[in-house]
Amino acid sequence: MTAGELAGEVAVVTGAAQGIGEAIARRLAAAGARVALADLQAEKAEGVAASIRAAGGEALAFPVDIADGASLDRLRSQVRSAFGPVTILVANAARITIRPFLELTDAEWEATVATNVTGTYLTIRRFCDEMIDAHRGSIIVISSVNGLRGQVGLSAYNVTKAALVMLARTVALELAGHGIRVNAIAPGDIATAIVDQVADQDGAQGTIPLRRYGRPEEVAETALFLASARAAYTTGSVVTVDGGLDAQLYPGDIFASGEAPGANG
Ligand SMILES: NC(=O)c1ccc[n+]([C@@H]2O[C@H](COP(=O)([O-])OP(=O)(O)OC[C@H]3O[C@@H](n4cnc5c(N)ncnc54)[C@H](O)[C@@H]3O)[C@@H](O)[C@H]2O)c1
Repeated sequence: MTAGELAGEVAVVTGAAQGIGEAIARRLAAAGARVALADLQAEKAEGVAASIRAAGGEALAFPVDIADGASLDRLRSQVRSAFGPVTILVANAARITIRPFLELTDAEWEATVATNVTGTYLTIRRFCDEMIDAHRGSIIVISSVNGLRGQVGLSAYNVTKAALVMLARTVALELAGHGIRVNAIAPGDIATAIVDQVADQDGAQGTIPLRRYGRPEEVAETALFLASARAAYTTGSVVTVDGGLDAQLYPGDIFASGEAPGANG
């Protein structure tokens, strides 16, 4: 039973207009948090916020570009006026760049790093002061299995997601004394618009140990856990929600063909 366990908490979720961020915003609101949905797509975020309110939750949408510190300053003061100091921060917004390494432009590299790495850094910096003042808080950084394993065509994205693992771990160490927990989630292939941009949809699913894409709601459950007091002793962790992808060296069953040593007795 988790209903109401986040009562009294104020959460900011970046990139909450769709996909994983939307699912996390909905889940935190259903658990009783007041939720600020922050996104470049302000109108779309407002649609999600309205539907959360219609379901009895408390949610408001705000425009933000996480790559722009001044935009985050405005977000912080708007959220503070509406809801009070933030106690849960989900740094989820990101952009994906799919391009062979040898065709990647400098501008694409820079834009990916600016949003995913610098933007996440700025997001945490802007909101951690309020948590330090309150001596409590939970920060959740959405990384990816692509930050743990390589994948062709995603060099810029993969580098940024690996950087977020180290950002979460290091900030966890520095903020532990302030009563703030910082954890990363590394989702695998989750059925959202980002995955729609990557080819080989049917083939990819067959190589996932659980043989299917994940759902945004399944990532949201992990985010709720990390946000809650149930995770009071969990900080600096990287939690995979990936159907077993990161555990696997090669896909497939070496015994299935009957050719593996010892497979036939
Ligand atoms: N979908 C997956 O399979 C998958 C796997 C691993 C990790 N992730 C990570 O999960 C997060 C969400 O992914 P998703 O699949 O829901 O993506 P998505 O593209 O569906 O949603 C991303 C949201 O972030 C917003 N956004 C992008 N740049 C922004 C900026 N500069 N400022 C504010 N908002 C901005 C977009 O408007 C969008 O609403 C990302 O960090 C992504 O890297 C996704």
